[in-house]
This record gives sequence, structure tokens and C-alpha cells, in this order.
Amino acid sequence: MRIRTERAGDFAQIRTVVTEAMRLLPQASGTEAEIIERLRAEGALRLGLVAEEAGAVVGYLAASEARIGAESGWGLIGPLAVTPARHRQGIGRALMRAALARLRRRCKGAVLVGDPGYYARFGFRAGAGLTVGACPPRFILALPFGAEPPAGEVYHPPAFGLRQEG
Ligand SMILES: CC(C)(COP(=O)(O)OP(=O)(O)OC[C@H]1O[C@@H](n2cnc3c(N)ncnc32)[C@H](O)[C@@H]1OP(=O)(O)O)[C@@H](O)C(=O)NCCC(=O)NCCS
Repeated sequence: MRIRTERAGDFAQIRTVVTEAMRLLPQASGTEAEIIERLRAEGALRLGLVAEEAGAVVGYLAASEARIGAESGWGLIGPLAVTPARHRQGIGRALMRAALARLRRRCKGAVLVGDPGYYARFGFRAGAGLTVGACPPRFILALPFGAEPPAGEVYHPPAFGLRQEG
């Protein structure tokens, strides 16, 4: 298994992997594959990493840029998905580690909306005073690379369709 940047020839497989993985997540919207495609179309995808094995895509991680309040420069991770037959084999961890290594060079830190039960292992923590609309704060997680993030709304790119004010 290797982690590499996505190529156009991967897009159909990425859609399948993301759609199948998100079916297992009750709170998923079912639009995650479309979000990725909209990020690409908007030029907002900063990182599209695939986990590839024997020529097949078995996992995917997208990262874009978030503004927190008035402060830009935060790496926004998501969606992250691993093909269901390959869960619990370290593919999600490998994608996340590769993404954090890349974001560390160019962002103030990483933020995401996700399950703290999974993301705490990478150092993500809730409680930084971040909001994403009406999302419960325990799911809004940050991993600062230096200074703590400012408290405030984590503005997502339009591709996420969140219609955030500001
Ligand atoms: C979450 C996901 C990306 C993890 O990928 P993975 O390759 O299975 O993860 P890893 O092998 O690196 O880590 C697996 C570990 O995480 C744990 N884990 C996975 N999801 C978890 C969750 N929601 N809460 C707590 N632990 C979780 C597993 O139990 C396993 O623990 P173990 O190592 O102690 O056995 C994958 O399960 C997935 O695609 N799920 C559906 C989509 C999703 O939830 N995406 C993330 C939110 S956007």
C-alpha cells in the first residue's frame, strides 16, 4: 500500500470508495463524494491523497483550507474514507499521517469535524471554542501546529454547502 497524490484516472474509484465507506456512517450526508468533486471544481482542494494497493484505490483523504473567524491558513481535513473491506488495517492512519506531514509545512494547524473517538489518536482535541453552525462542539476538533486557533466559526469552502454566515 502506498500513499500518493490523486490523479484524474483515480476520480471514479475515489467516488466509489468514499460512497461505500460513508454508507457505514449514520451521520454522513451521502454527498461526501460530491463535496470532493466540488472542491476540485472550485480549485479549493489543497490535498487529495489516495491509498493505493495493486493499482486500486483503497482509501482517500481530502484537505482544503478553512478560515477560523478572520484568520485564514488552517488546513481542513475531510472527507476521509477507507474501503469497508480494508478497515482496521492502518490505512486511515497512514493517510492522516501523510496529510498532517504535508499540512504542517503550510498551515497553522489542522481542523476537522469528526468523531473524537477516532481522531484523538492523532492529537486532535475539541474545546478550542470552535463552531461550525449548529454542530455539537465535541465534534469540532483542532490540531494546532503552533499557536492555538482563535475561538470562532470554522468557515468551510463553498463546496461543503454549509451556507455559513460571514
Ligand atoms: C474512520 C476510517 C477512515 C478509519 O480508517 P481505518 O483504515 O479503518 O483506520 P485505522 O486502521 O487507521 O484505525 C482503525 C482503528 O480506529 C478505530 N476506529 C475507527 N473508527 C472509529 C470511530 N468512529 N471511533 C473510535 N474508533 C474508531 C478502529 O476501531 C481501530 O481501532 P484499533 O486499531 O484499536 O482496532 C474508516 O473506518 C472509514 O472509512 N469509516 C467510514 C467513514 C468515516 O467514518 N470517515 C471519517 C469521518 S469523515
